[in-house]
Amino acid sequence: MAAIAQPVQLRPDAGSGALDGGSERYEKTLRELAGLYRDDAAFERALASDDGAPVYWVESSTVDRGPGALTVGVSTLEPGRVGREYAMTRGHLHGKAEHAELYYGLAGTGVILMDSLDGESRAIEITPGVAVHVPGHWVHRSVNVGAERLATLFCYGTDAGQDYQLIAEAGGMATLVVAREDGGWTTVPNPDHRGYRAGAVL
Ligand SMILES: [Fe+2]
Repeated sequence: MAAIAQPVQLRPDAGSGALDGGSERYEKTLRELAGLYRDDAAFERALASDDGAPVYWVESSTVDRGPGALTVGVSTLEPGRVGREYAMTRGHLHGKAEHAELYYGLAGTGVILMDSLDGESRAIEITPGVAVHVPGHWVHRSVNVGAERLATLFCYGTDAGQDYQLIAEAGGMATLVVAREDGGWTTVPNPDHRGYRAGAVL
């Protein structure tokens, strides 16, 4: 029998997004998010004053890769806007679309934005102490609608995988999370959304 994985203690730091005890980290800069936001002129303006620091980063713990293994981590997203849209992650559908995911708010105010492949959208607010249970078969991304960093703890099956192309091919997610004139956030339909490709459900 192969050696079994060892348990680990993980200590998330909600301020920095660090995950003490974790095993991986990746980060995204604004420049790497070209095409994510609808307002190209606003994106160019944001790039012109960008210092190249990461706009979001993920630290996670994967101790095993077989069926049933979990990846647990912290996702941290700086606040900001590009045009009317709030700062967001690229978003994805799990490569094995039936895989669910849990998010738990650690800091800041965010929205977990979700699309089903047949045209439903959901936007659920997440704040410290609130969990959002994302079932399988929903495209999902995090949006920071507050003035502070948004930090969430997440957990998904390690072999779920991520399809990052699906959203770009569809012209973006079906719904935009935008600033209201009088403050706060709201959702509006994305006029560029063309529907998700057939065959996205494996
Ligand atoms: Fe996910």
